[in-house]
Amino acid sequence: MYIRVLGSAAGGGFPQWNCNCANCDGLRKGTINAQARTQSSIAVSGDGERWVLFNTSPDILTQLARFPQIQPARSIRDTGIEAIVLMDSQIDHSTGLLMLREGCPLPVYCTDCVFEDLSTGFPVFEMLKSWNGGNHRHSLPIDGESFTIKGIDHLRFSTIAVDGKAPPYSPHRHNPHPGDNVGMMIEDSRTGKRLFYAPGLAEISASVAAAFTQADCLMIDGTFWRGDEMSYMGVGTKHALDMGHLPQSGNGGMIEVLRDYKQARKILIHINNTNPILLEDSPERMLLAEEEIEVSFDGMMIEL
Ligand code: MLT
Ligand code: MN
Ligand code: ZN
Repeated sequence: MYIRVLGSAAGGGFPQWNCNCANCDGLRKGTINAQARTQSSIAVSGDGERWVLFNTSPDILTQLARFPQIQPARSIRDTGIEAIVLMDSQIDHSTGLLMLREGCPLPVYCTDCVFEDLSTGFPVFEMLKSWNGGNHRHSLPIDGESFTIKGIDHLRFSTIAVDGKAPPYSPHRHNPHPGDNVGMMIEDSRTGKRLFYAPGLAEISASVAAAFTQADCLMIDGTFWRGDEMSYMGVGTKHALDMGHLPQSGNGGMIEVLRDYKQARKILIHINNTNPILLEDSPERMLLAEEEIEVSFDGMMIEL
């Protein structure tokens, strides 16, 4: 399977337009060793020609322009995007559906919770009905049952519910449901290799641990280094876990968790602009390297 990191940053991107934290300010001024990143999304393919998008960020048009392989140009209007899978209903993961309106109807896979949010609090599905009737929504099963996607050869998918948060505009923001956030196992039937993708992950539940055990590659939540990073950097008050993200450092943090999964290549994605791992030469980045944990970047290609 082929994996393209379309975007590697968390909501807001890096640098974030209104942020002057040490990272964002340093990147703008060219005083730090780091590279800009767009908001998180990956494209996955079994044959290198037909792709499934996992999330559609507000940066999708820039991301597609930087990835010419996804435009096969077989006819006057065309795309290599066969389907879209949404991992949650956050703005940074779903707003790109509006940018892709000219391509309606596209098959969009999401859970019932995510579909409800995107039909009410942020009614993207409703709005897009004015474009050729809108997208075709498919329900994502969250019981681990595997499924295939039409047009995508050699790949099987299975979804698991993960602990996270529904967005602020969700009708059940304060009443978490299984299916608000999901992780996805993608298995290539030719190579037998498995990717587990979960850009939002607040807790390592038994089902998440089982998925980690089976995976050859983990692309997982890299949002925050510290639990109190927002206040530590002076940009907010929310704790990482209250935002649905397990921090990397500290007891029970992602670094510690990942030590148990020696078989898998480990890659962090959905990195917030406050995170010191964005600096290529930071002590935090060195520590990740010692742990053999990679930091994804826009344009990264992986073959499994
Ligand atoms: C999150 O996952 O918590 C988001 O990146 C927040 C946001 O999009 O503002
Ligand atoms: Mn996000
Ligand atoms: Zn910042």
